[in-house]
Amino acid sequence: MSQRGPMEFWVSAARGTEAALRDELGELGFGELRIAAGGVRLRGPWEDGWRACLESRIAQRVLVSLARFDAADGDSLYAGVRAIDWDPYLTAGHTLAVTGSCRDSSFRHSGFIALKTKDAIVDQLRDRHGSRPSVARNDPDVHVFVYILNDRATVYLDLAGVPLHRRGYRTRIGEAPLKETLAAALLRLAGWDRATPLVDPMCGSGTIGIEAALWAASIAPGIARPRFGFERWALHDEAAAARLSALRQEARARAHGQAPRILLSDIDPQAVEDARANARAAGVRVGFRCCDLADLAWPGPPALVVTNPPYGERLSAGAEFLRRMASSLCRLHGYRVGVLAGAPAIAKAMPLRPAQEFPLYNGDIPCRFLLYEVP
Ligand SMILES: C[S@@+](CC[C@H](N)C(=O)[O-])C[C@H]1O[C@@H](n2cnc3c(N)ncnc32)[C@H](O)[C@@H]1O
Repeated sequence: MSQRGPMEFWVSAARGTEAALRDELGELGFGELRIAAGGVRLRGPWEDGWRACLESRIAQRVLVSLARFDAADGDSLYAGVRAIDWDPYLTAGHTLAVTGSCRDSSFRHSGFIALKTKDAIVDQLRDRHGSRPSVARNDPDVHVFVYILNDRATVYLDLAGVPLHRRGYRTRIGEAPLKETLAAALLRLAGWDRATPLVDPMCGSGTIGIEAALWAASIAPGIARPRFGFERWALHDEAAAARLSALRQEARARAHGQAPRILLSDIDPQAVEDARANARAAGVRVGFRCCDLADLAWPGPPALVVTNPPYGERLSAGAEFLRRMASSLCRLHGYRVGVLAGAPAIAKAMPLRPAQEFPLYNGDIPCRFLLYEVP
């Protein structure tokens, strides 16, 4: 793979979980990290981008920045994109998608940004080679992102392809499943040491417990992925493929398969069945119960609860349910309890003050992750 010195990567995460991502990337041995709203900037060789795709549990996407230039109108955007050498990334035989976005800029329509960018790329390749790549909105070989802020454009390529939260194990989902990447962030924000027993008493499709088991067993989150987006780029040659295969081997060798006791339960038998099937697909061992959280036989302390109770319109969470949930959780003396609260009523129902509180987003929903130390 051609190397042009250190690259600048943008590693995105759910808003509010950037610090957890920065800490994770630091632990994974990445050097130059700068936190920003919505993600972390990372400088390093190409291999760092690949490794972030393979090893980060919290990252949603990994983008590499190709160019930054002033773009106050369509012509300057076109010229800036055309000045990039696209040959290393795609040929006429590749498919392409472009996503545009802007803030505080002269541009008004993201579709226009995408169109101008696409035109500049295909015109360059047609002028050089006589043919052009075609556009594919679904599953393109190369996905270009253009972000314009204050009339300054940054052009990125998406390394991951399919977003990183799609680990592949979650074949069955119930209502309001958490993204795998957010579940991993909650575990880190909760300060889980990967040795303390963990319980999710409202597990739904089991995302929190499965992510916990994968993390505890050092199973790389991207290891089950057949192919990342960057493996389809023109510059991903045999030498790059061999190096990536070595990274995959190293990641496999680090997995030790051990995890502390992880208990998942839910009142809904279908949810427990789904969670069981998902854990099997992920290749992790987790315990299951089907019961109301008020009737759960909890392991003795110290243990950690991380859970995502029902809330909002889709999942009814009446005052009586919240009262019973709060009284069950407050009986867990010596436990640390992390509750992802998607509605203020959840925090209000708890008679304890949270020891820590993290505002974050579950998709578009503003939430608070409340951490209680139950006395
Ligand atoms: C928001 S969902 C959890 C989603 C889960 N984190 C996932 O990723 O799929 C909330 C879950 O709480 C469960 N639940 C509701 N009331 C419960 C109760 N009293 N006891 C145990 N589980 C309950 C629901 O069946 C639902 O699966």
